[in-house]
Amino acid sequence: MPATATPRSLIPVGVRLEGIVPDIERTILEPIIAEIEELKQARNAVVLAHNYMTPDIFHGVADLRGDSLQLARLAAQTDADVIVMAGVHFMAETAKILSPDKTVLIPDARAGCSLAESITPADIAVLRAQYPDAPVVTYVNTSAAVKAASDITVTSSNALAVVESLDADRVIFTPDRFLGAWVAGQTTKQIVLWEGACEVHERFTGAELAALRQGHPGLKIIAHPECPGDVLAEADYVGSTSGMSNWLRDEQPAKVAMVTECSMADNVAELAPATEFIRPCNMCPHMKRITVHNIRTALENLEVEVHVEADVAAGARAALEAMLAVG
Ligand code: 13P
Ligand code: SF4
Repeated sequence: MPATATPRSLIPVGVRLEGIVPDIERTILEPIIAEIEELKQARNAVVLAHNYMTPDIFHGVADLRGDSLQLARLAAQTDADVIVMAGVHFMAETAKILSPDKTVLIPDARAGCSLAESITPADIAVLRAQYPDAPVVTYVNTSAAVKAASDITVTSSNALAVVESLDADRVIFTPDRFLGAWVAGQTTKQIVLWEGACEVHERFTGAELAALRQGHPGLKIIAHPECPGDVLAEADYVGSTSGMSNWLRDEQPAKVAMVTECSMADNVAELAPATEFIRPCNMCPHMKRITVHNIRTALENLEVEVHVEADVAAGARAALEAMLAVG
């Protein structure tokens, strides 16, 4: 289930963005959103949106929303003919791998990810040669070819559970060194790390958060596990994007800093109406390539369609399904 409240695609376009964006923006956005709704009907399409989409997409256009794990599960379950992935390329590829008979569209094919860029199948082969007995655990923020070269995938919400499920004392964990180190701190297994990092989360520092706490007594800090270790040490809660939403909904803190991508706080504010958001956020330039305009174009022209070669898809599907089976 998506972590946040009911998607607004279930309520009329005219009220969907009320209180979410300024009225002047609503008058511009609503006709585009209405067109998107018509195109969705005509194409039997759904829009899956990651938690980092801008509020006009997250609240105005998305049918299903969530973190990477939720989007992967939702893509596998939907009976729509067309999936528009409002997220980055690896998310669209994952949807295609899990739903090979559906048309999967990414509104801007340049929406990449620094983690996906940080490792290749050849790198995995080198690691396997170095540690022949260690299974390869790979973050979903990677290409299909890297997944196919791995034994099992993880997301930020199940990384520890997946590592713990493996019958091995030593595990190769790629490509995010911070997520891997966070897992290593909670397991007795030996974790071999790769040197990848998220260009958005690696920029936060523990020192800036400590200073923020001093300036805001009572502040709660919640952080994504792609952040460096000194940041995670300062956090009251560490979890996936949906984990952070759920924490906020359940805890209703007086003041919170969400140490992650900037749109998160905008999107989840409705879950904690009395909470003051202190915003030390960084923007993901890749996520921000997706707009209501290119979602409309994607549905109009059925582009850009995502394809994954059959043999790569088969290998990647095995790694993804191994993860989904962990529960
Ligand atoms: P989540 O799976 O936590 O949504 O993370 C995806 C991501 O790209 C975070 O930077
Ligand atoms: Fe990749 Fe980081 Fe952007 Fe997430 S926030 S898509 S990990 S670059």
